[in-house]
Amino acid sequence: MINVALLGCGYWGQNLCRVLAQNRKLRLSWVSDLNPAALERAGRLAPSARTATDPEQALSDPSVDAVVVATPVASHAAVALKVLEAGKHVFIEKPLARSTAEAEQVCNRAEHKRLIVMVGHTFMYNGAVRQVKSIIESGALGDIYYAFSRRVQLGIVRQDVDALWNLAPHDISILNYWIDRPVERVAAVGQAFLQRDIADVVFAHLTYSGNVAGHIQVSWLDPSKVRQVTVVGSRKMLLFDDVSTDARIQIFDKGIDVENLDQGMGSFETYAQHRLIVRAGDVWLPHVDMREPLAVEMDEFADSIHEGRAPLTDGRKGLEVVSILERLTRAMKLDHTQLSLVS
Ligand SMILES: NC(=O)c1ccc[n+]([C@@H]2O[C@H](COP(=O)([O-])OP(=O)(O)OC[C@H]3O[C@@H](n4cnc5c(N)ncnc54)[C@H](O)[C@@H]3O)[C@@H](O)[C@H]2O)c1
Repeated sequence: MINVALLGCGYWGQNLCRVLAQNRKLRLSWVSDLNPAALERAGRLAPSARTATDPEQALSDPSVDAVVVATPVASHAAVALKVLEAGKHVFIEKPLARSTAEAEQVCNRAEHKRLIVMVGHTFMYNGAVRQVKSIIESGALGDIYYAFSRRVQLGIVRQDVDALWNLAPHDISILNYWIDRPVERVAAVGQAFLQRDIADVVFAHLTYSGNVAGHIQVSWLDPSKVRQVTVVGSRKMLLFDDVSTDARIQIFDKGIDVENLDQGMGSFETYAQHRLIVRAGDVWLPHVDMREPLAVEMDEFADSIHEGRAPLTDGRKGLEVVSILERLTRAMKLDHTQLSLVS
């Protein structure tokens, strides 16, 4: 059994607390949160764990092998470095840090101390996301042209990070995993309606090598909850819908074929020699085995520690995501709209 401490038991930390309390490979021995009310909730979810408002109590306990961090983004790097200094493996919620420099510092420190850093890119532990990866790898979709990810809903409005840093780590980690090529160019437009300099809505565009495009829309100011990624390939198209209960993956035998009208003329010379034929065939709904992604994620943390290997979403993978977020922020044109105040 690996003894684990959880630092931060707020909105998201309580989910980790519940899953850790039920995990068979990890023993949740401490929960620490600066807010005593969060610890009361933790006490109900994990009655056998000790609680403390001072995180040092858990960090100085020599029986603690690993620490799970679910504190606000601004504190991630500092808390992770403290955990590593205490000689413990660390799991950090996404995004790994607020800058590439901070993320690199955490990765370098962990490598130097031979400790594991894992980042909470939860979607890598989602059965449907993994199944889509196998479908893409099988070649069933043909060449991937582009993927379009939409993650919108009403709230939760953050004050410490914008919608890009709060929501897009998920989309970027999914697209990086599926497309699996380096990002060559980025572009982004953001709109801030509710708070100064904090984008509520962001349209981000990634150009992967080979001109494969990844487009992302994130927003916490939208009437509907949508979590969908469309992947368009040369042979087939696919929709991943994370909020669907019965059709998480839909594969469409749809596309547009280019027919060469004059075989004798050889290849692609002029547009006039070709005809575009719309193909609208069947739709398949493959069965998806779904275990709670957070439980799979915590198992991966435990297994990587046991086996002394890098986890699927190690620090370097987290660093890649932070670096793309940073590039998008630099490229982002942020438009402000006059606040509409309620009287
Ligand atoms: N993987 C996901 O799908 C997902 C979803 C939501 C949030 N998150 C991530 O989880 C993290 C926390 O987000 P949240 O929504 O729970 O925020 P939150 O503000 O609700 O909770 C953060 C908690 O951390 C506590 N805290 C702050 N500093 C601390 C410290 N040094 N030691 C111990 N406790 C400390 C706060 O008192 C608070 O209770 C963020 O990094 C966020 O990006 C991940």
